[in-house]
Amino acid sequence: MKILFLNGPNLNLLGQREPEKYGRTTLAEIEALIRREAKVRSVEVDFKQSNVEGELVTWIQEAKGVFDAIVINAAAYTHTSIALRDAIAAVAIPTIEIHLSNIHAREEFRHRSLLAPVCRGQISGFGAFSYILGLISAVNINE
Ligand code: DQA
Repeated sequence: MKILFLNGPNLNLLGQREPEKYGRTTLAEIEALIRREAKVRSVEVDFKQSNVEGELVTWIQEAKGVFDAIVINAAAYTHTSIALRDAIAAVAIPTIEIHLSNIHAREEFRHRSLLAPVCRGQISGFGAFSYILGLISAVNINE
């Protein structure tokens, strides 16, 4: 099984960015955690980040026929991107939306996810552990 982890804008700043909201773990540390957990479960992972919406769209398109599941923290694009939503719907790869913070406990503009209706489910509010929960959900997506 192959799982694609996608990260949206500003997540490259994790560790230094608003640590009271997003914690002190860097994205590289999260990636290392995910690679370790993936190995334990005998699944392959790829882990990417971009600040560019179109690049994320292209990676979703290219995932078709290559990856069995996508775990995405689209960051701010969660709340704005019809393009990402359409890409997820187009490839029809089971996709799990994740967030470090609990988006429903924050500003109102973060309560709405344009991606949620085309994702299998949403994990929100568990810090770096949201990524592990995303991995576990992806591994069991066909159960
Ligand atoms: C986030 C939540 C988003 O609202 C925000 O724009 C982010 C990070 C999270 O992981 O908590 O950049 O996706």
